[in-house]
Amino acid sequence: MSADVAATRREAGVGPVPGLVLGCDYNPEQWSPEVWHEDVALMREAGVSLVAVNVFGWSDVEPEPGRYEFERLDAVLDLLHAHGIGVNLGTGTASPPPWLSTQHPEILPMAADGTRRHPGGRQAWCPSSPVFRERAVALAEQVARRYGSHPAVRLWHVSNELGCHNAHCWCDVSAAAFRDWLRARYGTIEALNSAWGTTFWSQRYGAWDQVGTPRLTVSTPNPTQVLDFQRFSSDELLAHHRAEAEVIRRHSDIPVTTNFMVTAHRRDVDYWQWAPHMDLVANDHYLDHRLPDPLAELAFSADVTRGLAGGRPWMLMEHSTSAVNWQPVNVAKRPGELLRTSLLHLARGADALCFFQWRASAQGAEKFHSAMVPHAGTDTGVWREVVELGATLGRLEEVAGSTVRHDVALVFSFEAWWAADGEGHPSQHVRYLEQVHHWYRALRAAGIGVDVVAPGAPLDGYRLVVVPELFLTRDGDAAAVERLVANGGHALVTYFSGIVDADLRVRLGGYPGAFRDLLGVHVEQFHPLLPGEMLTLDDGGAGSLWAEELRTTTAETRVHATDGPVPGAPVVTRSAHGAGAAWYVATTPDLDATTRLVREVADGAGVRPLPGAGADVDVVRRTDGARSWLFVLNHGSTPVEVEAAGFELVEQQPITALTVPAGAVRVVREEVPR
Ligand code: GLA
Repeated sequence: MSADVAATRREAGVGPVPGLVLGCDYNPEQWSPEVWHEDVALMREAGVSLVAVNVFGWSDVEPEPGRYEFERLDAVLDLLHAHGIGVNLGTGTASPPPWLSTQHPEILPMAADGTRRHPGGRQAWCPSSPVFRERAVALAEQVARRYGSHPAVRLWHVSNELGCHNAHCWCDVSAAAFRDWLRARYGTIEALNSAWGTTFWSQRYGAWDQVGTPRLTVSTPNPTQVLDFQRFSSDELLAHHRAEAEVIRRHSDIPVTTNFMVTAHRRDVDYWQWAPHMDLVANDHYLDHRLPDPLAELAFSADVTRGLAGGRPWMLMEHSTSAVNWQPVNVAKRPGELLRTSLLHLARGADALCFFQWRASAQGAEKFHSAMVPHAGTDTGVWREVVELGATLGRLEEVAGSTVRHDVALVFSFEAWWAADGEGHPSQHVRYLEQVHHWYRALRAAGIGVDVVAPGAPLDGYRLVVVPELFLTRDGDAAAVERLVANGGHALVTYFSGIVDADLRVRLGGYPGAFRDLLGVHVEQFHPLLPGEMLTLDDGGAGSLWAEELRTTTAETRVHATDGPVPGAPVVTRSAHGAGAAWYVATTPDLDATTRLVREVADGAGVRPLPGAGADVDVVRRTDGARSWLFVLNHGSTPVEVEAAGFELVEQQPITALTVPAGAVRVVREEVPR
């Protein structure tokens, strides 16, 4: 039901505020009212048009059960409105107040080892707790009733980053909810036994009450039970979102959303299932300096979010002006980086760029997290760059509403991620997201733009689909790839794909099961490599992590391994199929070799690289059908020349050739629209 409402609102093009948006989280409860007046004046100076308030407001607006105090929030909303600043209004339910966890300790989440987590931080609630749900929905209703038609409110912000800290709860209440979920999925206990393969290790269930959450046990747990628990947990959080959204919609016509976390360190929510329920897709993203290539991960996250938004413009609900406070070393942004990283989200389809948070906190766990107004005040590089970003968005205004579309699709699956990284697999060193990032990095370095799609999504209109490590493959997922190739498209599938079905049952008869016929290969045995062990490839590259005993059936071999566990084995193959071709890669080639390979595959598929793009230079084109804009973001230390002609919006001048200085961003409205 709520998915239908969301679809109607999206089709109607409902956005939070017209045009491009600069915004932030605003926590005025941490400051005195005198500061609020300075805040709104500064917000106007920077061009802030949307602020998220009341995200963590619960203990403030409901200081005692059922006693609501909205006066302060009234004053904040009125003040913002008087200054022309829109509000992204939090329901305030992200973190329960101490009175609730004291009165109802049963809402506290239980860890896999059976111990309870305590209050004192945030988000300490069990997603299946009926008590928590009831109290949260009651608060959401009060907020919606009071502010449902307040002129400042532009968007509803349900809870906050649902599942950030409490994605799973293993308590008895959750176990009962899990059983209900399983009953709905399987119908009978026999069907559950069959799906979970419980004849193995004497795990056969005789009745529903014997089934529980997969608490910590002494050996490897049942993998399908674990996977179903992941699916269930994601569904429980979505049900929470829907319960709050439903009550809001009774009192307000304003679009409703919540902030996703498409990042490298959160994987517990299947956002493909969630996205249809959002009136507007919003993401939070922070550069992660624990990764080998944080910028490529930013680009990937933005592309995933655009995919979740069905290609429509989306909202960056949070990112940081500089350092965060939750990595081992919290790297501050260098001059120019704030602007460049923000505009990278814009280039990849965001129409709203918001920061966590407005003013750096003086107290609490996040006091060393950067903000738009730093501890040092406004005579700072960060503040000047914030103001510059606001001014730049003003010059880029005409791109609002335009979209990005590429010729290449990359299949990404939260569910396959859960499944692939399970225990008891051939190698614990092969990690799904690392494999996806590796192929994405190579594509980006080769200047090949991709759209990220869900498994099974129709691939019409694409020239090439890239399928990295799709361990769990449903019949329909493989059929979509096969159809594309039959119709003249190309596919590139990497090892450990097509191995199991949705119940994690191995597809027998030779790997890579679901893709075996399409790829024209037959794999008898995996030969995962030890850390540091390398394969020599006869195209000059090197492979790591994986080798296979592989023979071709209809495919031709393009690259062999000359050493390793299976010397002479094919590692890159190509099979003509229907009107197209399907490539298979049976190792992780080094980044250069992977980049060369994706160039060759893309070229064969008729995909043209974006002009001037590379590992240090993001190039993305947005279009509205009539006009197109070429974004060039130079992250490197030398200027780049790009073939482009038209009107350059950042510097506001006509150009016939484009030079982008080191660290700069340029956006060209192209003379000849693409
Ligand atoms: C998340 C949360 C914010 C804040 C930031 C800090 O995105 O939603 O409340 O904690 O992280 O990076």
